[in-house]
Amino acid sequence: MILFAFNLRAEDAPKFLGAQSCATSGCHGGADEKNKQYTVWAKYDVHHERPYATLTTARSERIAETLKLGNPTQAARCTVCHAPMQTVPAARLTKAVKISDGVSCESCHGPAENWIRSHTREDYTHADRVNAGMRDLKNLYVRANTCVACHQNVDADILAAGHPELIFELDGQCVTQPKHWQEGTNWNGGAAWYYGQLVALREMSWQLSKEKSPTENQINRWKSLIWLMNSTNEKKELEIPSTLVDVGSVQQATDGAVKYFHDLWREKNNRLILSSLANTSSSFRDSLIPQPLHGRRAERLVLALDRLTLALPDAKAAEALRPHLKKLFADVQSLPDFNPAAFADHLAEFQKALPAAP
Ligand code: HEC
Ligand code: HEC
Ligand code: HEC
Repeated sequence: MILFAFNLRAEDAPKFLGAQSCATSGCHGGADEKNKQYTVWAKYDVHHERPYATLTTARSERIAETLKLGNPTQAARCTVCHAPMQTVPAARLTKAVKISDGVSCESCHGPAENWIRSHTREDYTHADRVNAGMRDLKNLYVRANTCVACHQNVDADILAAGHPELIFELDGQCVTQPKHWQEGTNWNGGAAWYYGQLVALREMSWQLSKEKSPTENQINRWKSLIWLMNSTNEKKELEIPSTLVDVGSVQQATDGAVKYFHDLWREKNNRLILSSLANTSSSFRDSLIPQPLHGRRAERLVLALDRLTLALPDAKAAEALRPHLKKLFADVQSLPDFNPAAFADHLAEFQKALPAAP
């Protein structure tokens, strides 16, 4: 678990300095590969200004009106994700912070007060910076925890008021975010997918445990992710946790996952998990399972197959699976129309097309 500084008194916790303080051309506002991070974020990143601007649209106004929240750009229930600096106590903000920046450097890297000076020192390692309070986003588990905070759980009443449903998937979302960094040599799309889903499951479990009257939809989404994670390791070939039944076991699994990534993740895991998941077509023929639950399972499964296919070392084999994935994606396009039997057929075809195990 990463620790946020919420339990400190606001005046003691490190301050946010604002994206401008990273922006000079000699620092992160340049044009070279080495120092263009601010430039990439300001020009291309969906997190710059857009999340805030979204709160000024007619759609946001309608959502806020339904929930009687007043102006959505001032409502903490919206700004916590769309303009996070708005929800930080004033004592922790410096004048340079612009709330309309949306999701800015420090929303992901952590408040900069305690590391801004030291982080440029030649003799400083990544570990030194992390010790000074910078968030360790190179660590996939820490990264997943950072992104999931805004990318999975939305309260049931906000959804009912017209907010789009969120579905967290770390690998794909890291690829989609315009990159202002280079991934380290240990990057593995399958591991990112796996970490993202475990962390999403922990967050959903937490949300359900607090919801007074969870909707059927929320319960189905939670059950589906449990089913998916339990299906990753059917033959018990991996030392990853695979019996998730309740909040406690999810907590244990996410703790165990930290160790697993650091010590044990191997490329062959991608292939083993892919085979295990592709072997689930018979469960979509089970007529005792209600259609909406089938649909939710399929939705998460297709995302998984997509990411694990891309993580295969053999690009040609991955290419050959594309047409099958396309069909599976089409099957989950509209969940009310989801047809489990047709999906089972397409999944069996996908399984047949998988390259032989190494
Ligand atoms: C403080 C909240 C916050 C954090 C932290 C955050 N995001 Fe986002 N992100 C948003 C919001 C809000 C949007 C929607 C912007 C809009 O359209 O209004 C978004 C949009 C996106 C999108 C485009 C829409 C989509 O879902 O495909 C991607 C990709 C994305 N974020 C990836 C990431 C990744 C990767 C991380 C972690 C490294 C991350 N985000 C961390 C709030 C956040
Ligand atoms: C948990 C974080 C979170 C909270 C809380 C949240 N949003 Fe969002 N919102 C997002 C993310 C992430 C997206 C992007 C979804 C995507 O593109 O897949 C989004 C998308 C939207 C969109 C659609 C934008 C588009 O271009 O399609 C609107 C409108 C919106 N949010 C308004 C609101 C309002 C109003 C509130 C408060 C009632 C709110 N949001 C609360 C994270 C959040
Ligand atoms: C939505 C989350 C998010 C936002 C916003 C964000 N970053 Fe990052 N940043 C990341 C992630 C994830 C990485 C990759 C992990 C790493 O290398 O530390 C990263 C990496 C970096 C790196 C290391 C580059 C490398 O290749 O080693 C720098 C420098 C950086 N960010 C600066 C910034 C600056 C400056 C801003 C604001 C202008 C910013 N970031 C905004 C998520 C974010």
